[in-house]
Amino acid sequence: MTDGYLWFEGLPFPSIDYSYEGLKEACTKFVIKDEDTVMVSYPKSGTHWLIEILCLIHSKGDTTWIRSVSIWDRAPWLEIDTGYKLLKEREGPRFLTSHLPFHLFPKSFFTSKAKVIYIMRNPKDVLVSGYYYWTTTKFSKKPESLEQYFQWFLQGYVPYGSWFEHIRGWMSMRDRENVLLLSYEELQKDPRSTIEEICQFLGKKLNPEELDSVLKNSSFHVMKENKMSNLETLPETYVDKDFKITRKGICGDWKNHLTVAQAEALDKLYQEKMLGFPKELFPWE
Ligand code: A3P
Repeated sequence: MTDGYLWFEGLPFPSIDYSYEGLKEACTKFVIKDEDTVMVSYPKSGTHWLIEILCLIHSKGDTTWIRSVSIWDRAPWLEIDTGYKLLKEREGPRFLTSHLPFHLFPKSFFTSKAKVIYIMRNPKDVLVSGYYYWTTTKFSKKPESLEQYFQWFLQGYVPYGSWFEHIRGWMSMRDRENVLLLSYEELQKDPRSTIEEICQFLGKKLNPEELDSVLKNSSFHVMKENKMSNLETLPETYVDKDFKITRKGICGDWKNHLTVAQAEALDKLYQEKMLGFPKELFPWE
């Protein structure tokens, strides 16, 4: 580590709670089991929201689990040292979370029946959310300004590398029956139908009251008040004072932050990088 990142396989990773050996072991040796459920995303795409929904579906709307166990313990992060340790020791069906790009994801997945849910989000909102996240936490290199972070984002010089490569890699899995593709935007637009779609994918049946509870307890305002889910219990060695993962929770916040020139530059790169992908796949288009 020389520049605030931990470099692994040519990609920048956060430097706190990540190690080269840990990443190598997670990527090459971890065994995904048939009964595992994996949540995958590029950072800042609504990962914690998805975890909360899955945990609530699992408990049929009962809030005991989400109110008593921290979110990183319920669905540990595969490539983070502390998460990997928890996962290795865990018996039975597991929830796992990962931001790994497709080409680094454990190969054991391809021969397993494990279910993967990939959540994506408008890259402009991902960029803005990421700027605030990496500025108010201590996991990684801190940008000095939004303009600087904007340049880093375009170059893929941000944790987990390029958003475009992440999406392109995972998109190649979209027709597999054990992979579900979701977006932050559709969750915002119609959370009930999207939760029903997740239930169907997982083979879970909820009655209307249970579904109501999942909906209510995974909402932004309820999640923001749940200290087991909003990351407010993270120590100050990791985050700034008063940090919460639940920052704004809306679509289109980029309009309050990016200049016209920045938005145009990102659009131009987007057109180049996403050439060949059907527009219907991306609800922000
Ligand atoms: P903003 O920074 O735009 O507010 P991730 O979990 O992948 O790190 O993504 C974090 C983003 O998801 C943040 O976006 C956060 O506010 C938003 N988020 C978290 N919980 C949410 C919820 N219940 N409803 C809507 N957005 C949520």
